[in-house]
Amino acid sequence: MGSASSTSAAAGLPFAGVPEELREKAEELLATEPEHPELHVEFHAIDPDTRSFTLRTFLGPRKWAVALAALLVVVETVSLQLGPLLTGIAIDDGVRARDFGVVVGVFVAYLVAIGVNGLSGFTRIRFSGRLAEDLIYDLRIRVFSHLQRLSLSFFTDEKAGRLMTRMTSDIEALTLLFQDVLVQLAVQGLTLVTVAVILFILDPVLAAITLLLVVPVMSVATLWFRSASDKSYGAVRDRIALVLADLQESLAGIRVISAHNRRHHNIVNHRNVVGHYFDANDRVARIGAIYGPGTEAVGVIAQAVLILIGGRMVLRDELEVGELVSFVLFLTAFFAPIQQLVNLYNQYQAGQAAMAKLRDLFDTDPEVPDAPDAVELPLLDGQIEFRDVSFGYDPGELVLTDVDLRIEAGETFALVGPTGAGKSTVAKLVSRFYDPTSGEVLLDGHDLRSVTQRSLRRQLGVVPQEPFLFHGTIRDNVAFSDPDATDEVVLGACRAVGIDDLVDRLPLGLDTPTHERGSSLSSGERQLLALARAFLSRPRVLILDEATSNLDLLSEQRIEQALDVLLEGRTAIVIAHRLATAMRADRIAVIDDGGVVELGSHDELVAQGGRYAEMFATWQEHLR
Ligand SMILES: Nc1ncnc2c1ncn2[C@@H]1O[C@H](COP(=O)(O)OP(=O)(O)OP(=O)(O)O)[C@@H](O)[C@H]1O
Ligand SMILES: [Mg+2]
Repeated sequence: MGSASSTSAAAGLPFAGVPEELREKAEELLATEPEHPELHVEFHAIDPDTRSFTLRTFLGPRKWAVALAALLVVVETVSLQLGPLLTGIAIDDGVRARDFGVVVGVFVAYLVAIGVNGLSGFTRIRFSGRLAEDLIYDLRIRVFSHLQRLSLSFFTDEKAGRLMTRMTSDIEALTLLFQDVLVQLAVQGLTLVTVAVILFILDPVLAAITLLLVVPVMSVATLWFRSASDKSYGAVRDRIALVLADLQESLAGIRVISAHNRRHHNIVNHRNVVGHYFDANDRVARIGAIYGPGTEAVGVIAQAVLILIGGRMVLRDELEVGELVSFVLFLTAFFAPIQQLVNLYNQYQAGQAAMAKLRDLFDTDPEVPDAPDAVELPLLDGQIEFRDVSFGYDPGELVLTDVDLRIEAGETFALVGPTGAGKSTVAKLVSRFYDPTSGEVLLDGHDLRSVTQRSLRRQLGVVPQEPFLFHGTIRDNVAFSDPDATDEVVLGACRAVGIDDLVDRLPLGLDTPTHERGSSLSSGERQLLALARAFLSRPRVLILDEATSNLDLLSEQRIEQALDVLLEGRTAIVIAHRLATAMRADRIAVIDDGGVVELGSHDELVAQGGRYAEMFATWQEHLR
């Protein structure tokens, strides 16, 4: 950033109130100031092709890689299944024919088969592992960018912990699915088919008898298992989300929890939540416990029957001994994958459930979208107008009804009124965190719905009621909207709100670390940092929501003076419970009963003798 711009930012000087003759110069200056570099970001989820998020659409773009992995799986599986066949040959053509050459040949063939198996296995695991990592990498970015794109209302409706589940356990389930489960499903499924085919080649009659014995029982058992485990898996996914949500909330609210002696209560509560999760998992395990050993028993019985029938066939010279041995060995090889498939199916279910949850997330559209023909908001004068605006967070329940309000460019406009009246709501509508239910909000005559949110927010500074500090340093937090700002600029912003002495006092200065919830700084300090952050972005319109509510009188006075300078020329909406702050504004609106009940300058409102006059009298009463 050039030195010219840094001085303007350091002084925090606005441009709207600049006399006409200087204005051109000022705009020129603004134009030469580099914007925050436009990062290249793709919002994958906007792409209509990726809308329906299924295994097919997700793997689709990588179908060749998937096909290659599948080919490796085939080689790996077939080479592994040669064992019993070779054993049969060694017995019949080697041992029984007393030909050691054949035995040696089989030995060599064994080694080759294992070599091929090992090599293809190694390649496949490396390759599919890498493929899975790539897929998961894409997916994490996709989920994150989708979340960043959603509107504020989504995050107030949705438990943060639930969203964390999407990023943690759901993605983990999918990682497992891609890394292991899908390939193993292919391996085991293929084994099953290969072995069945070999059985038929060895002896069609015996194969038919075995399969007739086994397949119907297995099918019924498997159908039951599928439906039972589908149901239980839904429950497992839902309950792990609750566990994480509870955990997240307890960590975030630990101070309140300690202060209200709720630790024990919360432990009990968490025990219940985890208990439900436990129950759901237990059900899954129980179902597996019935199915697993059940099929195992079927397998062993089938083997016994095979020995009986096969033995009789050998005695009648209808079958070679080696063939019978191959057969028995293959039967084991036939059942092993069925066992595996049970576990795999559970994991596959987990993956599919996670996929469904993510699909829901991707199908959520921002509630406040940019219009397709949205235009860039030009440099603002800062005139704000509410035309017949009604708004409610819930459709049935209006917070604001038919509000008409006009805030002139450069004006400092205070909103006062009782708690819950809708002051913050007015601020949120100006920032277009929400769209009005009816009516329109205009900035310099532009309906907010017709401009891009980027261009709107770039010219808007908001200091919310609960300032949030990010993990990082004081510098990172103040320079949030312009990460490239120089120290000079950052310190300038700090000076503007009077925290330069705080920064000087800290041994690490601007590099002092801050934490997510800023617990290492006092609330007042956090508010001041949030103010500095807002000033640094040189907004044309500034919204301060109770920005001075946590300050002591001295800091407040200091900041009032700073505000006088800083708000000069910018349009400012100042929400204040403290009338000391409100009375400095050009005009004051009293918000109550879903609308503006009084409007005017401090003197006018006091003279009017209405609500504001009453509030003012009470306040002065207290001062005495
Ligand atoms: N995200 C939300 N979802 C549903 N209702 C909400 C939401 N935010 C606020 N409300 C409701 O809207 C009404 C107005 O809230 P708002 O935050 O605008 O009040 P306020 O005037 O800023 O109050 P305060 O002085 O306490 O900050 C309140 O009744 C509140 O319960
Ligand atoms: Mg509020």
